[in-house]
Amino acid sequence: MGRRVYSDSGLFVCFEGGEGTGKSTQSRLLKTWLEDAGHTVLLTFEPGDTEVGQALRQIVLDPATGDLSHRTEVLLYAADKAEHVDTVVLPALARGEVVITDRYVDSSLAYQGAGRDLVVAEVEHVQRWATGDLRPHLTVVLDLEPQTGLGRFEERDRIEGQSLEFHQRVRQGFLDLAAADPDHYLVLDARGAVEEIAEAIREQIKGLLP
Ligand code: TMP
Repeated sequence: MGRRVYSDSGLFVCFEGGEGTGKSTQSRLLKTWLEDAGHTVLLTFEPGDTEVGQALRQIVLDPATGDLSHRTEVLLYAADKAEHVDTVVLPALARGEVVITDRYVDSSLAYQGAGRDLVVAEVEHVQRWATGDLRPHLTVVLDLEPQTGLGRFEERDRIEGQSLEFHQRVRQGFLDLAAADPDHYLVLDARGAVEEIAEAIREQIKGLLP
């Protein structure tokens, strides 16, 4: 594995968690709060926030794609990440901005590694290579029992449509990652009130801002 890279400029914050845990809501709230405090913020997401990423997102999430080799799935997500890091995330960090991403490498470790039953270390090797081992300064994991999160959707994409057991392994995957590196993670119970969760995130971010 490569050397862990934490950007010297800017701040890199990642939101992770299962389906329907409120990542998008919380990332938007954090963006607004930071902008009100005078920071320049780039809010982005994986997969799909580049031109090639949009096409990759369509392939991995469209139920019409059907079954893929699990290794193919890893590589499609890895391609999205490589393009995202090189053309979106790193340039913004170099400009000294706060980059907030809705999902990143941990999603692949949890979904393709823990969820698909691949060897997590092998999935990690691929995703670390794809991202030049760039690490978030902080990853916020919004934790929720999958049944509750999935219940928030009427239609399910290719990944959401996986079994409950799959989503339970994914949830545990995120919790294991956070437990292994507590200095870089904040795990919050996603059942809490939106404003309380937002406040807990702000408290943690305050200590990291330049
Ligand atoms: P979302 O943008 O609506 O969260 O959808 C992304 C889906 O893709 C979600 O089900 C999680 C999944 N995913 C992976 O399986 N691996 C990854 O590396 C990423 C970024 C997402």
